[in-house]
Amino acid sequence: MDTISNNSQNSDELKKALESHFPREHNQLMPALHYVHHKYNYLPETAIEAVARHIKMPLSEAYGAATSYSEMRLQKPSEHIVKVCTGLSCKIANSNDLLDIALGFACKTDNVDVEETPCGFLCAVAPTVCIDGQWSSNLDAIKLKKTLNNLRPRIDQH
Ligand code: FES
Repeated sequence: MDTISNNSQNSDELKKALESHFPREHNQLMPALHYVHHKYNYLPETAIEAVARHIKMPLSEAYGAATSYSEMRLQKPSEHIVKVCTGLSCKIANSNDLLDIALGFACKTDNVDVEETPCGFLCAVAPTVCIDGQWSSNLDAIKLKKTLNNLRPRIDQH
């Protein structure tokens, strides 16, 4: 995952990437925002500004689009992202308990974000949790706690 700062080198790199991948057309707004989100794992303010400038649209319009989609985050995420599926199959399989466990774990650290996510399309093996992009299935409280505790060494190294 790339990082971005306000320095001109990063701005130039992003500008070049936008120029090479996206025509300056309004219909390129969402593809460009998705590109930036994939690149940084969130939408930094400076990147939204760069996209708006590139596509030549008002910044408010770019922000409006960016804030309309719940899958796009505007804040830099923590080191670890735990997504607990709260779709119907997972709810029936007690995903709310897993969500409580994950939220409790996140309260003890400052490097874990916990989110609810709709169906991960793994309903047959519910309940499911996605940790840093890796789905785990057939989870119970013990398995989830063990998995979350394995995140600690990575967190403690910083
Ligand atoms: S409801 Fe959780 S994977 Fe489908």
